[in-house]
Amino acid sequence: MAGDGTGEVWCVVVAAGSGSRFGGPKHLAELRGRTVLQRSIDVARRCADGVVVVVAPGSDVGVDGADVVVAGGDSRSTSVSNGLAAVPAGAEVVLVHDAARPLASGSLFARVVEAVRDGADAAVPVVTVVDTIRDLDGGTVDRDRLRAVQTPQGFRAAALRAVHARGAEATDDAALVEADGGTVALVEGERANLKITEPADLDVAAALLDRAAASGGDSAS
Ligand code: CTP
Ligand code: MG
Repeated sequence: MAGDGTGEVWCVVVAAGSGSRFGGPKHLAELRGRTVLQRSIDVARRCADGVVVVVAPGSDVGVDGADVVVAGGDSRSTSVSNGLAAVPAGAEVVLVHDAARPLASGSLFARVVEAVRDGADAAVPVVTVVDTIRDLDGGTVDRDRLRAVQTPQGFRAAALRAVHARGAEATDDAALVEADGGTVALVEGERANLKITEPADLDVAAALLDRAAASGGDSAS
């Protein structure tokens, strides 16, 4: 259980990737007046007591509102570990968020925190898969049995620290906690919470922001 439900929530925002598919450091790309990274930090700031931002070693990134900035590593797991090491020992819930997902809403963050406070070792936002998925060994996969995983992911701090203390490597921290016997709660993700991966994703994100602004929506903040 996550204690008495009042312990601090810290968010690790990972931004130490090279953006090879994007063609450069995508977290520094401008998205309607703020960088992708700054948007991710801003929502984390509103939803967590403290924010650790993980940037590429030697990079000189402008970061407003971070409590701590640390250098990442060659893999996402190493970047998460380095960020986690900077989270205060007393934190009860740790969120891990990809800087590359600038449109996650505050309500999504809140749902993830709540699932951990309710007793899950890990909580992950998921969305249904809309494409038909082909298995390279032949045949199609039943997409009703599949979910696409997003961030922020949330963890009971001790559960995340335990898997990282062993130096486990995976693109998905919840999978590590699950392999360790932990419980993983699925929470409803958001279709608009796309991960900026290729340049065209930035255009989609800008269009989503414009649409939300026109309708007074919450993810336009
Ligand atoms: N990330 C990180 N450290 C790494 C690799 C990734 O902090 N060594 C972060 C990225 O900055 C990003 C998030 O993890 O916010 C998700 O990774 P991804 O979308 O794959 O970003 P990149 O690894 O930068 O992109 P690519 O795989 O195209 O090189
Ligand atoms: Mg990557």
